[in-house]
Amino acid sequence: MTKSGEDHNPGRRKFLKGVGIAGAGAAIADHLWTEAEAQEKPGTLSGDVRVTLNVNGKARDVQVEPRTTLLNALRNHLEPAVTGPKLVCDVGTCGACTVLLDDKPVYSCLVLAVDATGKKITTVEGLGTPEKPNEVQSAFVENDALMCGFCTPGFVTTISAYLKKNPNPSLAEVREACKGNFCRCGTYPRVFEAALAAAKGSQA
Ligand code: FES
Ligand code: FES
Repeated sequence: MTKSGEDHNPGRRKFLKGVGIAGAGAAIADHLWTEAEAQEKPGTLSGDVRVTLNVNGKARDVQVEPRTTLLNALRNHLEPAVTGPKLVCDVGTCGACTVLLDDKPVYSCLVLAVDATGKKITTVEGLGTPEKPNEVQSAFVENDALMCGFCTPGFVTTISAYLKKNPNPSLAEVREACKGNFCRCGTYPRVFEAALAAAKGSQA
């Protein structure tokens, strides 16, 4: 992700500086680097791009900047928006934005929308409906596994994916599976109970 020229492609900058341009000449290197960057237009992405995202089984066209995250595209660029995944930290530390990419949980704040094309994107909305929730969604309701609910879509998504891999987990395994999701309200015991109840329910 490009924030400034300073951040962009440090490898090439180092290379230019390393081929005999040093000290005050570094400014020249900067100039050369900028020129090289300007000539690099073919093949680079700039301006808005149109992409098609496969969200919860539907092809959704959206126009985004290349730097737009999948989370941002879902929440702010799709019409109607997909707001299950939540924006909290935006730096990949809390798990509130968790979605499934080809059935694997990812932090959607760390995935570019353009990189999610051609992949199956599943958000908490795609796991079940209010009329027909999946086992995990039902277990969260039955076990009162939320307080403010802001972390809940992330937990539900993570646990739903995990139970497909391990349908009969121990408490320790559930805790381990959820280690990338934080709950600021501290609802962990209920969340883990819900996960274990969902596992039992899906085996019944
Ligand atoms: S908002 Fe993505 S990990 Fe926190
Ligand atoms: S229920 Fe409030 S952050 Fe988890």
